[in-house]
Amino acid sequence: MDLKIVNIESLISTNSYLFDLAGKQDAEEGLVIITDNQTAGKGLGNNTWESQAGKNLTFSILIKPGFLRAEQQFVITQLVSLAILGVCKKILGGDYLKIKWPNDIYAGNKKLAGILIQNIVKGNSISYSIIGIGLNVNQQVFVSDAPNPVSMIQLLGEALDRGSLLDEILNEFDNAYSDFMKIPETIGLDRNFIDNLYGIGESRFFIDKDGRFEGMIVGVNDYGQLLIKKAEGSICVYAYKEVEFEL
Ligand code: BTN
Repeated sequence: MDLKIVNIESLISTNSYLFDLAGKQDAEEGLVIITDNQTAGKGLGNNTWESQAGKNLTFSILIKPGFLRAEQQFVITQLVSLAILGVCKKILGGDYLKIKWPNDIYAGNKKLAGILIQNIVKGNSISYSIIGIGLNVNQQVFVSDAPNPVSMIQLLGEALDRGSLLDEILNEFDNAYSDFMKIPETIGLDRNFIDNLYGIGESRFFIDKDGRFEGMIVGVNDYGQLLIKKAEGSICVYAYKEVEFEL
């Protein structure tokens, strides 16, 4: 994929900007929109994304994975979250970095990065996908009510060069995406995702529509839904928003 990075001084949301652009004109796969000042970043659901100007990475990548069927959307989540996790692990080290379902990057019990993927499906294939990434890099103080944010500077004790970090993430993702295009095999991806899943195999408390319960994450299915084994033995399948972790 040819990566083309376009830096725009200030934007409401890199996802919204790229979404509009991709719908209006023939924007190329590999276009990356980045801003230093995202004024109303979007999160999953109705959430917002806090990012102090000039401190973090807030960017969106356009891909056109026409070879993926609509029901294979989870592959994109896996490729992106594993790419970010890989780069963060290289820099920060440690097993405490995990992917928290559905697609957050966590350091211990704190959120280091968020991912917002918007897919446009035509027929039965994914015509294009806007992959939005917010990574907390050099921000020291968080002011919104976002639950437990953390940044790389807080974990590492020193500031990082955001340009090289961006390049590393883009390269890691580009390599993984190109490899998958050549050999669209999900076994390795699935295993890697599960191996790095926050809370897997641990007995924990969750909250679903019936209330609080004790259970254990045992995996995700092909659609990216979370599988939790309840204490009494049944395995429940959850889509986003249907279950909450008690942290
Ligand atoms: C979440 O954890 O809820 C997802 C957060 C995604 C934030 C990124 S920042 C760059 C891109 N543009 C947006 O408006 N959101 C994503």
